[in-house]
Order: sequence, then structure tokens, then C-alpha cells
Amino acid sequence: MTRKILFDTDPGCDDASALSLALASDELEVVGVTTVAGNTTIENTTRNALSVLELHDRTDVPVARGCAAPLWRPLETAEHVHGSSGITGSPPVPDVETIDTSGTRFMLEQVYEHGDELTIVAVGPLTNVATAIAIEPDLPELIDEIAIMGGAALCPGNSTPEAEFNFYVDPEAAQRVVRDGNPRLIGLDVTQDATLTAEFVEELAERDDPHRTLAAWFGYSEVDAIREGELSGEQVVHDVTVIIDLIDDILEYRRFPVNVGTDDGDFRGAVVCDVNDVTGTPPTANVALEVNVPAFRNRIAELIEKL
Ligand code: BDR
Ligand code: CA
Repeated sequence: MTRKILFDTDPGCDDASALSLALASDELEVVGVTTVAGNTTIENTTRNALSVLELHDRTDVPVARGCAAPLWRPLETAEHVHGSSGITGSPPVPDVETIDTSGTRFMLEQVYEHGDELTIVAVGPLTNVATAIAIEPDLPELIDEIAIMGGAALCPGNSTPEAEFNFYVDPEAAQRVVRDGNPRLIGLDVTQDATLTAEFVEELAERDDPHRTLAAWFGYSEVDAIREGELSGEQVVHDVTVIIDLIDDILEYRRFPVNVGTDDGDFRGAVVCDVNDVTGTPPTANVALEVNVPAFRNRIAELIEKL
């Protein structure tokens, strides 16, 4: 049976890669895309999502534009990582538009329509998901599960010494979803290890589209190097890890009580994981701690040939 996924995203190069591979997979059916501001503005993330679908000739998948800013903080973006428009390469200019429904409303419609067959895959700041849970507190029980790329549970962060980018950008939303959403939490603990080799990405860059564009997205952490055909090392592709785990169970999890820091400063967006159960509170999330890297790479190599 295929797993139905609603892809909540802020493309973003690794978001674009993850969506591409989800579309290629026989095990997943992408029922829709909701966009959120994060790596870049909502205008850019929405255009980029449409552009990914255009590249793969899948404009039948509906895209709904979601929240333009975090719940109450100003938006902080990451164009310095993903490129000025939010994605690298030269993906096609989209010929289609978003549906005439907000991201949160569309998310709730999908929840009610697909119920426990639906997985929400959230790979950007959690603003849309937190808003949907605020409107429908039963959302986590109505669907199969929420799978998140976000947080640095037991490892250092990438936005502050403690915080990962998606959680840092909208910590209040992350706190809400992690405490109330019973999610699968796929953070830097595993996504930093789930890499692609430079040789793999370089070989892909030699091909025609869509592979050439995918190579530009895979190699986003070294934008200049991919242009010159010489990547220096292994490539992180954070959001892709969620998609491959949903297909192949490549991650090992432990259940913990988890909270997210919402104070300003170093602990904004930091994950507090009660490993020793000192709080005595019930577990709130499945936290990914180990990844099977060969299985990860094998599945990506296989999916790419289907694009
Ligand atoms: C996360 O932050 C974004 O830049 C990526 O798209 C990914 O979702 C990694 O910290
Ligand atoms: Ca992302």
C-alpha cells in the first residue's frame, strides 16, 4: 500500500531534492504540497515548489501557499546557504499557480479527507503545522503521523550552538508540534551523517535534466564547487532523510519526553531531550539517533533512475 504524504516545505535545495524523490517513489503518493516561509520568503518557497513540480511534469499535485512568517517572530532566512532565490540550478519557470486555498486550510482538508492514511512530512519551520493543530487539536490522532526534519536532539546545532535552523526560525511552532504532535523527529543527529558522496553528485551533474538540476540541489552546500564540477566532500541533504526513512526505515529511534527552547539567545529552538527521564513526564516524540547510510544512498540511487 502506498503511504499518502502531504509535503510541508520551504524550498530550499534539500526540500526540492526531497520532493523530487518522493514524486519518484512508488511507495509514496504526494497528495499535495503546502509551502512555508523559512529558507527564503513565502513568495520564493511557493514559486520554487511549483518549479519542482514543473521540472518533473507533475503539476497535477496541488500546491497551497502557507504562512508567510513565524507565529510571532520576524522571519530569518537562509539564502546564503540555498542561493538568492532559495534554490540553485536553473529549474523551469512554473506555468501553473497555487490553489485558491491557504496552506493551513488545505492541510486540514487533507487531514479530514485521508485520516489515518495521511502522513504530514514537515521539512521547514513548523508554522503551518502548529497553526493547523491550534485549529484542530485532534490532528495528531486523526492522521497516521507527523514526520519532521528539525532539531538537534543530542548533537550541536547549525543556527546556534544548540539549535537547528527549522526549530530556530519558529521555536514556538516547533514546541507546539513536538509536545502535542507525537512526531517522528529527524534532526541533525542523523541528517548530518546521511550524506551523498561528491562523486555521486558530480556524475549526476554530467547528465541532462532533471538529473543535472537535481545535482545542483544535492550539491547546494557547495554552490560554487558544483558549478566548476569539483565538490570537496560529502554532501548533506537533510530533508531527503525523512523521505528515505518513510520508504525504507533507515533510522533507529528512541522515545523521549522532548521540549523546545523558546527564550531568546543560544537556547532559542534548542531541543531538550529528557534522556534519563529526570522529569518523569511521558515521552512526546520518537527521536532519530542512528542512520543506515548505505541503505540511504542505495535508495536514492534507485529513485533517481525513475525521474
Ligand atoms: C534544515 O534547514 C534548512 O535550511 C534545510 O532545508 C533543512 O530543512 C536543516 O537545518
Ligand atoms: Ca527545509
